[in-house]
Order: sequence, then structure tokens, then C-alpha cells
Amino acid sequence: MSQELTPADKAKFICAKRAMDYVKPGMRLGLGTGSTAAWLVRLIGEEVRNNGLDIIAVATSAQTANLAAECGITVRTMDEVKWLDLTIDGADEFDPELNLIKGGGAALLQEKIVATASDQVVIIADASKDVKILGQFPLPVEVVKFGWETTKGLIEEVLSNLEVMSQKVTVRMAGDTNLITDEGHYILDLHLGSISKPRELSLVLNQIPGVVETGLFLDIADAVVIGHLDGRVEVRDINIGTVEFEQIDVVEQDNMFLDI
Ligand code: 5RP
Repeated sequence: MSQELTPADKAKFICAKRAMDYVKPGMRLGLGTGSTAAWLVRLIGEEVRNNGLDIIAVATSAQTANLAAECGITVRTMDEVKWLDLTIDGADEFDPELNLIKGGGAALLQEKIVATASDQVVIIADASKDVKILGQFPLPVEVVKFGWETTKGLIEEVLSNLEVMSQKVTVRMAGDTNLITDEGHYILDLHLGSISKPRELSLVLNQIPGVVETGLFLDIADAVVIGHLDGRVEVRDINIGTVEFEQIDVVEQDNMFLDI
């Protein structure tokens, strides 16, 4: 029920709700991963069930595909759909140019493929993700299992020649074993503190054998919808340079706050 939502959950919910304005019937839609994107999936599911919203959905993770199915959304594969009109996804950090760190939920590879193949990418995030410089959140890097310790060593070597505050690299765990992504890889988290040159970092990391993809999403997002704790939603559109605020009320609705 709505009164059980924490202020942080409400901030996530209201930005997802505002992002529904971007969703139009007939769209091919990429569904992001994470707790903020989950609100969007629930809201879309409600439109599908109650109002017959007709969309073609592609999920960015098994987790999102499962949730979408539970919410009554038919999910198609990326290979069936190939190109999307719109992707709405969360982020771990976004900077003033709408460059992002993603992958906190270990779904960065599918998320990047889906977002790159979308005409429009809208990020939904609570205000805590808004940063001046990326890097406080550890940068996830997806690596193949084969020789991953060697890949880790190569990443550490590259980092020692770059302008970053810290250079610690850790492998993401799931309990007492390495976490395995939907694509069967490992995640290395780069604890950098501050990334002053994200483009340079992205280029050098992507050249290392064993690196599949990084969580740096540069020049991919078109707009960010930010949920503030006081109920305001801020929409920043990087292409037209607009910033808009509006108040969104959290209204209790059928099933919306149930744990589906
Ligand atoms: C998953 C992601 C998520 O979008 C990111 O971690 C934000 O998640 P949340 O909305 O739960 O804070 O990149 O790989």
C-alpha cells in the first residue's frame, strides 16, 4: 500500500509515472532493469491489463522479463524486434551531459544493446543519482569468465595511467561465488571515486581483451526524469535543453503497490 512506501520508493515511483507520458500505443518499447524500472513495468502492465495498451516490449534482463510477464506484458526477443522506438531505464549515476553509469543490477550488457538500438532513451532516477562527475558509484565492467583474473590485471594496469581518484577493482559476488550475468559473464566493479575523462576511460576499457562492455553509457540518453523526495518530478531533455518541474501525487491504485 502507498503509505508503506519509503520516501525513496515514492521518488522512484513518481519518475516512472511521469515517464509513462512518453509511452504511446503501438510503440516498440525497451524495458529497463532495477527497482525504478520495475515501477515502470508495473505501470505499463496496468495500462495493458486495464486499458488494452498495445505495445511491443523487449526486456533488458531475465528479471525484467519475468516481472513483465507477471504484469501481463508480452515480451519479445531483441532479435524478433531488432529496433525500438523508446527505451526507459534506470541509472546508478547521471551527470549534467546525461552520461551514465549503469550496471548496478548487473544487466548493463543487454541494457546497452537495447538502449543503443532505440530512437529515444529516457532515464528514470531518483535525485540521489544526480552527480556533477561520474565515478562515486563503482563502474561495472562485464568480462568473460575465461582469464578474468588476467583481464582484471590489465584493467588495473590501464587505470594506473588514468586520471581517477582510486583504482580498486573487485569482482561482484552473489553470496560466496562470483555473480554470473544473464549472458554468462562476470562483473568487475571499478571503484574510481571520480571519472574526469569518461570517454577516454570507455575507449581504453573496451580495447582490453576479455572486456565485453562497460557500464559507461555515453551519448545514449535523451532525457532524464528525476523523482525528488518532496514529490516533484524534474524532466531534463538534453536535446532541446529544457528543464521542467511538476508535482506528482502518489495515489493508491489497484495492485500497483502489491509485490508482484
Ligand atoms: C541495472 C541498472 C539499473 O538501472 C541501475 O542499477 C539503477 O537501479 P535502481 O533503479 O534499482 O536504483 O543499471 O543493471
